[in-house]
Amino acid sequence: MSKFGNDLPAGRTLRGHRAPPCAMVIFGASGDLTKRLLMPALYNLVRARRISDRFAIIGIDRTEWPEQDFRAHLAEGVRSFVSDTAVTGAIADAFDPDSWDFLASRMIHVHGNATDPETYQRVAKALNTVEGEFGTGGNVIFYLAVAGALFGTIVERLGEAGLTAEKDGSWRRVIIEKPFGSDLASARELDARLHKVLSESQIYRMDHYLGKETVQNIMVLRFANGIFEPLWNRDHIDHVQITVAETVGVERRAAFYEATGALRDMVPNHVFQLLSLTAMEPPNSFRADAVRTEKDKVLEALQPPTGEEALRDVVRGQYTAGIVRGHPVKAYREADGVAPDSMTETYIAMQLGIDNWRWADVPFYLRTGKSLTRRTTEIAIQFKRVPFALFRDTPVEALTPNVLALQIQPDEGISLQFGAKKPGPEIRLGGVRMDFKYRDYFHSDPSTGYETLVYDCMIGDAMLFQRAGSVEAGWAAVQPILDLWRNDPSVPLEFYPAGTAGPDAADQLLGRSGRKWRPIA
Ligand code: BG6
Repeated sequence: MSKFGNDLPAGRTLRGHRAPPCAMVIFGASGDLTKRLLMPALYNLVRARRISDRFAIIGIDRTEWPEQDFRAHLAEGVRSFVSDTAVTGAIADAFDPDSWDFLASRMIHVHGNATDPETYQRVAKALNTVEGEFGTGGNVIFYLAVAGALFGTIVERLGEAGLTAEKDGSWRRVIIEKPFGSDLASARELDARLHKVLSESQIYRMDHYLGKETVQNIMVLRFANGIFEPLWNRDHIDHVQITVAETVGVERRAAFYEATGALRDMVPNHVFQLLSLTAMEPPNSFRADAVRTEKDKVLEALQPPTGEEALRDVVRGQYTAGIVRGHPVKAYREADGVAPDSMTETYIAMQLGIDNWRWADVPFYLRTGKSLTRRTTEIAIQFKRVPFALFRDTPVEALTPNVLALQIQPDEGISLQFGAKKPGPEIRLGGVRMDFKYRDYFHSDPSTGYETLVYDCMIGDAMLFQRAGSVEAGWAAVQPILDLWRNDPSVPLEFYPAGTAGPDAADQLLGRSGRKWRPIA
């Protein structure tokens, strides 16, 4: 489905058509990401007739796969995807063998280590082969579905092998998954390494939250409806809450997660994407640079906390044993690969301010955590209370403020909470809710969220990808917190039982100004 249907101009006229011919070279081809998300996304794009007939995939990794085993491994991912309604967000679909055969017949496996220059000679050869066989036209997407530590090296090796040069009107693009660096300094360093080889227009920094339909819809809700914009500011809004709650724990990702933690894993990227779309000024168009400029301005206006504020306004937590959705969960410190005295946070809550005319003095409360009671991603805009005088005789707690909640996942929708008179002779107030659910109005195609992003890269629309500046602004806003934790190990780590809404200290963070988190359960 095209991002903005046919009514609103998007970045490129190509949108809605088949993508141009190209080859996709995937580093980390046997990895989890390729199998669970990328291949199903390509399969969905084939089904939706968005991929050119002149397309090919070259998969690279260290496993020595016979060609048919490599294909069977990836086919399994697509098969389980189409039947998993929790992942697709749609009614289970039948596996379409023709779409899969289209992909499988255009797939080459290249065995090799990403650090070894010889691998790149083999990639060059494979690219020549697919160009001759499938007419991919010299256009190439290099997809780095590998650990962040390899991004710089792979791009350098690609450059040394002459694979990033754009000749005769063809293009070469690189998709880089998060995490882009592990702090501000390393993000800058990585960027400098990339720019020695690539121009900015060749770099597609991916944040998969931007591929989610409901995340893109934040902009449409705000700017295509006249009723919200006049109220969307410090005069009317008391505060904003952004929650990304997960029920999954560390699972089998201890090696990555121990070194990363909830703050790095979720905040400067996914949570800040939600925040910038919520807080940005209206762009002049949906062109990539117009939108990204407005989003970047928000991140640049974030007030990085001082050391003292990082101590006062940030709560880090870690889950202990508990029950999540009826299943017992071991404490984080007891999970495989996790140090028994690990200080890695699996939960973070914080208060941040945005220092501009629209948002000065409006607190943004952000929280994200693993092994919580329920999976939900939500942005809640809480409006200011009305003056009490008129309702002097009404119990104060009955005067619920208006809340506009954007439910991003699951159960995508929007709800508005307001006060209504309870039937009866006296004036008594009741809080009520008006709910809109996407599924009641729109048919949604099965999707991993990666379809839009992969397709956009093929057509050269970078609107949903991050520029270097926004990645850096994101890191800059959380850097004082990382510094504080590194320099002062006595900063408390608050424990919460798995299956709850997080540590009590997070409630106190809001409680001290008389506010409350919205329930997660
Ligand atoms: C990833 C994080 O980027 O996003 C994971 O590394 C997290 O830890 C995931 O679980 C959440 O994505 P989603 O799409 O399930 O909300």
